[in-house]
Amino acid sequence: MIPHTPSETPPPNLSALAEDHYFSANPPPKDLEKHIALAKDFIDFHAAAGRRLVLVTSGGTTVPLEKQTVRFIDNFSAGTRGATSAEYFLEAGYAVLFLHRQFSLLPFSRHYSHATDCFLDFLREGPDGSVIARDEDAGKMLHVLRKYREARDKKMLLVLPFVSISDYLHELRSITRLMRPLGPKALLYLAAAVSDFFVPPERMSEHKIQSTDAADSVLQAKKKVAAATEEEETFDNFDSSPKVPRSKRLVVDLDPVPKFLKNLVEGWSPEGMIVSFKLETDPAILVHKARYSLDRYQHHLVIGNLLATRKWEVVFVSPGNPDKWIRVPRNKALTGASPSTASPALAAETQSDEPLDPKSL
Ligand code: PMT
Repeated sequence: MIPHTPSETPPPNLSALAEDHYFSANPPPKDLEKHIALAKDFIDFHAAAGRRLVLVTSGGTTVPLEKQTVRFIDNFSAGTRGATSAEYFLEAGYAVLFLHRQFSLLPFSRHYSHATDCFLDFLREGPDGSVIARDEDAGKMLHVLRKYREARDKKMLLVLPFVSISDYLHELRSITRLMRPLGPKALLYLAAAVSDFFVPPERMSEHKIQSTDAADSVLQAKKKVAAATEEEETFDNFDSSPKVPRSKRLVVDLDPVPKFLKNLVEGWSPEGMIVSFKLETDPAILVHKARYSLDRYQHHLVIGNLLATRKWEVVFVSPGNPDKWIRVPRNKALTGASPSTASPALAAETQSDEPLDPKSL
């Protein structure tokens, strides 16, 4: 175990002032007001019924390099954890507000979407020219269809999308504030993969960043000729390719995204139960980083996972408790058999039809 050292540089914290600055400097997504209205109706409806409600965040946030975005940096996440966990929360009676990266996996449809599970592979042509499920798939498909319809008809699932890091943070802040009156009946299950670095708006190009000076010659011929001459003589020592002139490179200069978890715990949702995920690639630091996050933000649970093994093992790190590893047999996690443990965190990576008990969180 790696000890905490006082010299460790803490992540920048989003104080109230910095919070105001971040949210005024980074524009909200264009559909924020619409999403807030939908979320409010959903939350009020379930609050009136005295139901427990979980916000599941899922998928990766992007970091746009241009305001009119052609290029962006992405965070790893297919949305499997979030989409599958959402199904298990529904099964356990929670209303689920599913805040996800646009086009990432969704509860229920995840069984039949994306490259590995294309829905067309589950269908065949009937004798009368109709389209029907293949016999071997029909049982599971019917089960999923019923669960999906039940969630939809009982208004148990609200699905809202985000794309960029600033979309995500605006949506998260607005929704968690709306959930505040739910008190301890609100559960925040933060499985989204959130960017740690971004391009602040004042340094972001409005238009597509150019890889040649062809457009320059049209727009600012004189000025650009002079600049190009100067730039071609300037070589960067940033990497070991001195033959590539600075004018032909794209050097990306990113600022840290302020850490919002403290503001979430203390301000946006002080009474809610907050579960965050910690993704690492180095096994030597996973538990340390999870414990550090828990100590720093003072929430309820950090679920740690490693990129390479996330499908069959996670570690629960919670205040006052020893670290708890939960594992499912690797072949079961991969083939989609039922997990042998009662945790939606691992259910998140299985295709099991057997629900697990979110109370085990
Ligand atoms: O979707 P899958 O393909 O199934 O993959 C699932 C997963 C691996 C993405 C998921 O299990 C997971 O680990 N999600 C969290 C990944 C992540 O963003 O880790 P992190 O170390 O960057 O962030 C940890 C916590 O800090 C997060 O809860 C986040 O809310 C918080 N954070 C992050 C960035 C930031 N600027 N401020 C924050 O407060």
